[in-house]
Amino acid sequence: MKKVLGILALAFIISIGRVYADEGMWLPMFVERLNYVDMQKMGLQLTPEELYSINHNSLKDAIVGLGSDAKPRGFFCTGEIVSEHGLLFTNHHCGYSSIQKLSSVEHDYLKDGFWAKNYSEELPAADMTASFLIRMEDVTNDVLGVVTNDMDFAARNMAINAKIKELEAAASEDGKYNPVIKGFFEGNEYYMFVYQVYTDVRLVGVANSSIGKFGGDTDNWMWPRHTGDFSIFRVYADKNGNPAPYSKDNVPLTPKHHLPISLDGVQKDDFTMIWGFPGSTERYMSSYGIDYNVDTFYPIIIDIFGKQLEVMDEYMQADDAINLMYADNHAGLANTWKNFIGQCTMLRKNKVSETKVALEKDFMSWVYSDPNRKAEYGQALPNLKKAYGTLGKVAKYIYYPNFVAQTGPAGIAAAFAPYYNAYEEKDKETAAMMLEQLKGMDVDAMFAETNPQVEKKTFAELLKTYKNAFKAEELPEIYDIIDKKFKGDIDAFADDVYANSIFATPESIKAFLEKPNPKKIGKDYAYIMSTSMMGKIMENVPAYREAMNVVSENDHVFVKGLREYYAATQPEKSLYPDANSTMRMSYGSVQDYQPADAVHYDYVCTANGIIEKYVPGDYEFDAPKELISLIEKKDYGVYADDNGELIVCFLSTNDITGGNSGSPIMNGKGELLGLAFDGNWEAMSGDVNFEPKLQRTINVDIRYVLFIIDKYAGATNLIDELDIRKSEPKPLRVEEETPVQG
Ligand code: ARG
Repeated sequence: MKKVLGILALAFIISIGRVYADEGMWLPMFVERLNYVDMQKMGLQLTPEELYSINHNSLKDAIVGLGSDAKPRGFFCTGEIVSEHGLLFTNHHCGYSSIQKLSSVEHDYLKDGFWAKNYSEELPAADMTASFLIRMEDVTNDVLGVVTNDMDFAARNMAINAKIKELEAAASEDGKYNPVIKGFFEGNEYYMFVYQVYTDVRLVGVANSSIGKFGGDTDNWMWPRHTGDFSIFRVYADKNGNPAPYSKDNVPLTPKHHLPISLDGVQKDDFTMIWGFPGSTERYMSSYGIDYNVDTFYPIIIDIFGKQLEVMDEYMQADDAINLMYADNHAGLANTWKNFIGQCTMLRKNKVSETKVALEKDFMSWVYSDPNRKAEYGQALPNLKKAYGTLGKVAKYIYYPNFVAQTGPAGIAAAFAPYYNAYEEKDKETAAMMLEQLKGMDVDAMFAETNPQVEKKTFAELLKTYKNAFKAEELPEIYDIIDKKFKGDIDAFADDVYANSIFATPESIKAFLEKPNPKKIGKDYAYIMSTSMMGKIMENVPAYREAMNVVSENDHVFVKGLREYYAATQPEKSLYPDANSTMRMSYGSVQDYQPADAVHYDYVCTANGIIEKYVPGDYEFDAPKELISLIEKKDYGVYADDNGELIVCFLSTNDITGGNSGSPIMNGKGELLGLAFDGNWEAMSGDVNFEPKLQRTINVDIRYVLFIIDKYAGATNLIDELDIRKSEPKPLRVEEETPVQG
């Protein structure tokens, strides 16, 4: 009986069509109400209580937000607990910054990897904290209860922020917890997330970057992919299991839950879920916002970051010390730069703005069919159109000077402006006070992790980039000086600034602070550069700020209306809020895709692809010789799939974004199948509009992770610590046992 039912149920699923890509980043607290039935049909075997519970240990207790400080309001990545002793997996690119800081040219863990053989060898990662979600709750009524009808939007926000502070303080239990309240649906709902934050996190293991970042920025945001994007940390607690600052007396955390690991691997259509902390999406953005990003904002950032990267690349590839020094900075810039290029291309190609225009048309006719709706929502889109129009005009006058004036000596000179202004105004008292403040600066820290050659070249190149983006009459005064005193030669100007400016070296700044001669500041080229660029910004800031305020107010109104519109016209549709660095769950399945006509991309890739891509000595496609030799021998041990191949990465339809990096991708039993680490090029528009046919999450297969730990690094101590499971081989189906004749 049971079996028959099972078969019937299966037939039912097939008859309603394949369950495809699953859009949505869902709040764990609503999983039972909104998603559970669907997930069960797709293959989930856990109960809602086993997923998210505030009374019992549940899966959510193994999901960790990685922050940079002790009271993070958001997370740069996600990690998951994988052992009874607080062992944590995340991506290589998530541990990158910490690993860089722990490294030196002699002990370059980015280049050479690092494996602790026991607890005592684990290295404290000063700037990584691990936040565990204790509970979340709806505080919409409390927060919005302070809003009254006579408030304008600014007053409303002030009242809301004050209430948020008050509620957070009340929930902190004297600092035991870090409660964070965030707005959802553009400030139409509010939820509080109460975290316990562990600040003693230590590096346990990481493979060479030539494994963890294999393929570099060429392969970044792309499939097929062969990157072993994982690193391993451990969370430490005091003897009672509570968070404590680093101490050698701290002990590995005994977690409430850890994820078991599955060696079963993935098949097409397998159910998958991903839990983590997606950072930000813009799924409810208007077409005007999209056009502004594509036509104005992204191109500016692409222009500036592209130049910075070009300079860094040149020096980094020539010098190991510079390579290490700029590693994290470079990776971050390159990641955003390529993302923005991808977004510009794919937002256009996937016609996202056009899709939104169609939606907005429907929305507006729904709004106009009712006088009350017209009064409440009728102006939102026209207001957004106007505000984005303004932003489109002024953005370049803000962003170019802002980025360029921040570079090198000009950036430092800016800090001296209040002091110099007070001196000019003959306000001796203020000047003296400002000078004292300046003397308190950690001058050396301002130059730490910088190389003068790289900085000077960047300084010069960005000045050229700025110049190229504007008409001569729009340029700030500093370009007149460059023309008159340096015959327009920007490199000569940069040489002069780096040789003579007060703000060029730690020594010259310290010398100035010891014997200040404020008159000199007014004549300093770096200072003139800074003030003349700041002047350009100030001319345009009022219009920019005003437009930004109009955008946030009207986004709020638009999304409020949009939710009503969906409720009225598509009541069966559940809406999920945009990502905002709070815990989300996304579910889907393992799927291949077709990136272009006549092209098919498989859902797995194997270690053979590493050999295909391998370029010895290359900056991006080198790989350790020992790895190549293991692959050539196909020495994969228990980590091989049924064909004796080693799966490196696989694709799933889960809906994720930045911040999800390092998130566990799990099967229906809540066992770890891999770590999510990227999205694919063809769906780079995905943060604005989910593309079911194209959008995929790129995951590193846990079997490749274990293979690297075990067979490549020989870190069997870690393998022993993990909870590794393999199910019995599935019995053959009847048809397979008795082949049909004929
Ligand atoms: N695209 C990945 C993300 O945003 C980061 C990959 C880092 N790798 C790199 N080559 N920069 O999470």
